[in-house]
Amino acid sequence: MTLKIWLQAILLICGVFFKASGAFVGINIGTDVSNLPSAVDIVGILKAQQITHVRLFDADAHMLNALSNTGIEVMVSVTNEEVLGIGELPSTAAAWVNKNVAAYVPSTNITAIAVGSEVLTSIPHAAPILVPAMNNLYKALLASNLNYQVKISTPHSMDIIPRSFPPSTATFNATSNSTIFQILQFLKNTKSYYMLNAYPYYEYVKSNGIFPLEYALFKPLPPVKQIVDPNTLFHYNSMFDALVDAAYNSIAALNFSGIPIVVTETGWPSFGGSKEPDATAENAETYNSNLIRRVSNDSGPPSQPTIPINTYIYELFNEDKRPGPVSERNWGVLFTNGTAVYDVSLSDSDSLGANSSTAFCIARPGADESSLRDGLNWACGPGQANCAAIQKGQPCYSPNTVQNHASYAYNDYYQKMRSSGGTCDFGGTASLTTADPSYGSCRFIGSGNSSMGGLFPPAALGPIGPSSGSSTSIVLRFGRVVAVVALLVLLDLNLRNIL
Ligand SMILES: *[C@@H]1O[C@H](CO)[C@@H](O)[C@H](O)[C@H]1NC(C)=O
Ligand SMILES: *[C@@H]1O[C@H](CO)[C@@H](O)[C@H](O)[C@H]1NC(C)=O
Ligand SMILES: *[C@@H]1O[C@H](CO)[C@@H](O)[C@H](O)[C@H]1NC(C)=O
Ligand SMILES: *[C@@H]1O[C@H](CO)[C@@H](O)[C@H](O)[C@H]1NC(C)=O
Ligand SMILES: *[C@@H]1O[C@H](CO)[C@@H](O)[C@H](O)[C@H]1NC(C)=O
Ligand SMILES: *[C@@H]1O[C@H](CO)[C@@H](O)[C@H](O)[C@H]1NC(C)=O
Ligand SMILES: *[C@@H]1O[C@H](CO)[C@@H](O)[C@H](O)[C@H]1NC(C)=O
Ligand SMILES: *[C@@H]1O[C@H](CO)[C@@H](O)[C@H](O)[C@H]1NC(C)=O
Repeated sequence: MTLKIWLQAILLICGVFFKASGAFVGINIGTDVSNLPSAVDIVGILKAQQITHVRLFDADAHMLNALSNTGIEVMVSVTNEEVLGIGELPSTAAAWVNKNVAAYVPSTNITAIAVGSEVLTSIPHAAPILVPAMNNLYKALLASNLNYQVKISTPHSMDIIPRSFPPSTATFNATSNSTIFQILQFLKNTKSYYMLNAYPYYEYVKSNGIFPLEYALFKPLPPVKQIVDPNTLFHYNSMFDALVDAAYNSIAALNFSGIPIVVTETGWPSFGGSKEPDATAENAETYNSNLIRRVSNDSGPPSQPTIPINTYIYELFNEDKRPGPVSERNWGVLFTNGTAVYDVSLSDSDSLGANSSTAFCIARPGADESSLRDGLNWACGPGQANCAAIQKGQPCYSPNTVQNHASYAYNDYYQKMRSSGGTCDFGGTASLTTADPSYGSCRFIGSGNSSMGGLFPPAALGPIGPSSGSSTSIVLRFGRVVAVVALLVLLDLNLRNIL
């Protein structure tokens, strides 16, 4: 092995450790499910999917027991029904903490308590009791000496921010100012974080097609549809980023800073009724795959680029017992038998959609040759691809080009490692294709029969190549800005009419 390969291996290992403390993607576990698997089976599924963070909507004893000694981080929830009692009586709060948190820590790694769910918008009459409930729970944690390990917060709906676009001018609904002010004060004092439920699906549907679907799905936007905040000139590549920034700006408008946002719910339904045409498996797969990729890159939204957006996908299983529109029962990523509702892949291509099961990972045409050589060395070395077929005299040796050999090695690595989170990236020198690159007696391993593996990247399994910054950067040109501002004025007018 050359020194370079060793260095890359070390970089990769450092990358793994670094990522471990970087952004995470967890999952919500709703339980309105007929034939809900046992807690032990659910935890088995979580482990098979390499899921590291879960949010429960309650503090179910079976789940908390099953999650013990798994290393999985757990957010437990006070239900909306419980908030009132806990807010009224400190002793109720203490009993709740003892029964649902202290009894399980440290073997079950409970790191947060979500107090209620969207209390300010779903049961606004309970608003006055919310902060007292949080305070009472905090005092109970303090008494158990758990206040450093377990954070307390409360998940908010985007509905608390009446006009989220443009993000720079977003503010909380003024009728909630005083409660939100107290919540932010609490979060600041206890070094906790703001919990945000952000659903581009609902925002997109609500906007009546004013925002492009690509924007909601994290797909690249054509130049004429770029979304720019006219005050900050920040480009928004995704509605997800814009919603998170709207919340950051609303917090800033109340003169708070340094409170990170964690997205406690986001996702996309895979099936809907006749009036829900955007609830499709293809969109759900695209949204969640791109979301995972977005969050995993560790960057924050444009206004807070250094704060990663830790995120919980909504949700693990389809909750078939939930009332409401058809889509309401179709947010899950897995069936209860543990098989995937759709293939959530970490592929680097936006266009493959639901068809990624036939994807091959090849060297990107036109990729820089020395970067390709690095990628090839990495794949055949630390990446453990089987590179026998590209050795002299073997079926895939000819044509003897770096491009050809890299394609073979990248694909071999990708097909084997995809299920455990390996990506088709290689420092931006690789791309996915549905066209089978096999030729003559040189057969590329096909992914057609690869089984569903880890939904979530354990860490940066894909190599961190030297040229990962090579993706197309958006150049701001004057003409484009004018077009964009004009579009925004249009959007703004339309939104005012609708909302
Ligand atoms: C629990 O999670 C926290 C936060 O990631 C971590 O620092 C700690 O080591 C974990 N504890 C256990 C017992 O796994
Ligand atoms: C603000 O909240 C109040 C009370 O929940 C509600 O009646 C009002 O419509 C909201 N305002 C906006 C602009 O959404
Ligand atoms: C509520 O807070 C906003 C800033 O987010 C401020 O502009 C507004 O005046 C406040 N309204 C009331 C009624 O306090
Ligand atoms: C935030 O601070 C500014 C400047 O100190 C002040 O003018 C403004 O009233 C404050 N806003 C709120 C909502 O407290
Ligand atoms: C991470 O995601 C942000 C937002 O989409 C993007 O601007 C940035 O270029 C990405 N960074 C990398 C290294 O891919
Ligand atoms: C899992 O459940 C789904 C939905 O009920 C079903 O379509 C699929 O065939 C099942 N898979 C296995 C392996 O049992
Ligand atoms: C992928 O798409 C092609 C063309 O649209 C289609 O023929 C093929 O059956 C699809 N494969 C899968 C696995 O969906
Ligand atoms: C599926 O993959 C396995 C191992 O990669 C291979 O042995 C098997 O022949 C493949 N099956 C089909 C139908 O391609």
